[in-house]
Amino acid sequence: MSSQIDHLLNETRRFAPSPAFAAEAVGTAELYERAAADREGFWADQARDLLHWHTPFTEVLDWSNPPFARWFADGELNVAYNCLDRHVESGIGDRAALLWEGENGDERRVTYAELTDEVKRLANVLTGLGIGTGDRVAIYLPMIPEAVAAMLACARVGAIHSVVFGGFSADSLRSRIDDAGARLVITADGGYRKGKVSPLKPAVDLALADRNGLGAQETVEHVLVVARGGNAVDWTEGRDLWWHDVVPAASAEHEAQPFPAENPLYILYTSGTTGKPKGILHTSGGYLTQATFTNKVVHDIHPETDVYWCTADIGWVTGHSYVVYGPLANGATQVLYEGTPDTPHPGRWWEIVEKYGVTVLYTAPTAIRSFMKIGRAVPQKFDLSSLRLLGSVGEPINPEAWMWYRGVIGAESAPIVDTWWQTETGAIMISALPGVTETKPGSAQVALPGISVDVVDEDGKHVGNGNGGLLVITEPWPSMLRGIWGDPERFKETYWEKFAAQGYYFAGDGARLDDDGDVWLLGRVDDVMNVSGHRLSTAEIESALVGNDAVAEAAVVGASDETTGQAVVAFVIVKESYLAEHSPEGLAGTLRLWVGEQIGPIARPRDIYIVGELPKTRSGKIMRRLLRDVAEGREVGDTTTLADTSVMSIISAQVK
Ligand code: WTA
Repeated sequence: MSSQIDHLLNETRRFAPSPAFAAEAVGTAELYERAAADREGFWADQARDLLHWHTPFTEVLDWSNPPFARWFADGELNVAYNCLDRHVESGIGDRAALLWEGENGDERRVTYAELTDEVKRLANVLTGLGIGTGDRVAIYLPMIPEAVAAMLACARVGAIHSVVFGGFSADSLRSRIDDAGARLVITADGGYRKGKVSPLKPAVDLALADRNGLGAQETVEHVLVVARGGNAVDWTEGRDLWWHDVVPAASAEHEAQPFPAENPLYILYTSGTTGKPKGILHTSGGYLTQATFTNKVVHDIHPETDVYWCTADIGWVTGHSYVVYGPLANGATQVLYEGTPDTPHPGRWWEIVEKYGVTVLYTAPTAIRSFMKIGRAVPQKFDLSSLRLLGSVGEPINPEAWMWYRGVIGAESAPIVDTWWQTETGAIMISALPGVTETKPGSAQVALPGISVDVVDEDGKHVGNGNGGLLVITEPWPSMLRGIWGDPERFKETYWEKFAAQGYYFAGDGARLDDDGDVWLLGRVDDVMNVSGHRLSTAEIESALVGNDAVAEAAVVGASDETTGQAVVAFVIVKESYLAEHSPEGLAGTLRLWVGEQIGPIARPRDIYIVGELPKTRSGKIMRRLLRDVAEGREVGDTTTLADTSVMSIISAQVK
């Protein structure tokens, strides 16, 4: 980490927004003053100004039982009504909500009126299936308009959705369905990825089947299937339903009912430091307020003129807050793209920007770095002059990538907002305001109006400018997680115990304050990796590895990687009996595929080293820091706390 700190300290370039941009910007400097004068009053104003409340709230924040916050608790609203009906009622029903581009070239323009109609029908279907307030619905879909409709229909009837990324395996899906106790799964036959149909319904069938000694899944009553891939699927009569049979046939009359502001909206599973994924719980009123506000002021949404494109999959929190809830509540027009950036050619994204005249692009550093690798000639073949604002999310963006993004994609003029937040925070917390802040390449910079963060030492003391430490959030915020599904103790332990004396939320990230007090993120300080902007836990991959018969023990680390930020590197001890019969290369190959099957392709280790021993402390804790040194090709650090100090030299020799 130290080399990165030095590098950051040398970064002195500054980019102020142009006067023309600043003059038209939605977010102004005055927001900071209002929020500083009365933080809760500020959020109450945002909630009233940006959303429709069926029953206005009179309470703002209830923090009487920390860390369980309640925001706007006596107010009532309907999240889907806020994203759909009210726009139709205000006369903008003909505006495009979604400009959908299939990977295979299919297109659909879906207006607010059409999306509202679809969601109303689906809401009636859900009600007919007995899905109502508090029921859990698992959504396992490609990036198609039906995915957006499915989430909104759940919200409309007060049900809780749990979106599972389509790249996750049947086993990952099963554990998430079980943990949430889902009654319905909404999926598709398949979706297009990398030029092929990637099947989804078959994975759902596997997930629900009696496998791995788990027995047949018991809570799911129905599986609703969108026809997208055209691939053959098995059918379970009585359980499975085609979307095209039931949704168009349902009534388009459906009045959105109000729900309390703290009604749960969704569960989203994310990696933690233990093997079991955490079901992060978000509720309605506070979440929608902050998602809508941040989309508006950070992405500078002018709904009448902008064509906004957030490239995230709906399986991640960025897709929840900045594909579905924020932009639709703001009445924005956005691009939704089904496929991968390089299919059928490496310029596909830039072709889409040109085709739809995208004005605001929000993506991840890993994507930017992979475009950098291919070279500027590819984007330069397309007309990107419509782009006026660029955003970044998911991991620290290194200054080189930032400068390339600005120069090659943003024509040296579009402001870049580097936005720091987490699944747990629900919405952006630290970011420049594009019309106000003088940006610095590589820094997320400042807390948004109404948000209080700090960088502290191990004792919770502010580190002061020029120093590094741990990032904390010092005051409750509207879109904060309300807990971990089914596990309030783990919620307290994971996020609140470390700085219990101060009452701070601990984010798990290292950060540094520069001389202006701006925040520079330095990556995770726990055993969570960030691969292509996706959080993966070392423990989860280790337990998948150890689940293979050949493996006796495994340790996984995140090693820095030019393209993906971090890459998964595994050190594995193989059982003697297997070593005798298989080559190390063969075993490594088998185990890579195995992890892909267990968790999903994204978790497949880049490198697997078959080793004889792992470095452990006397208390038996694996010293991943030392393995990271090996994985990154560095001189191995201090080994004095190892139980057996010779282990590292043996491992280094084996790896070479
Ligand atoms: C990292 C994604 C640096 C961070 C929205 C955080 C970032 C984790 C940034 C959350 C950023 C996200 N700069 N690091 N702009 N944005 N991170 O839950 O380590 O998938 O804790 O949420 O990503 O990942 P998650």
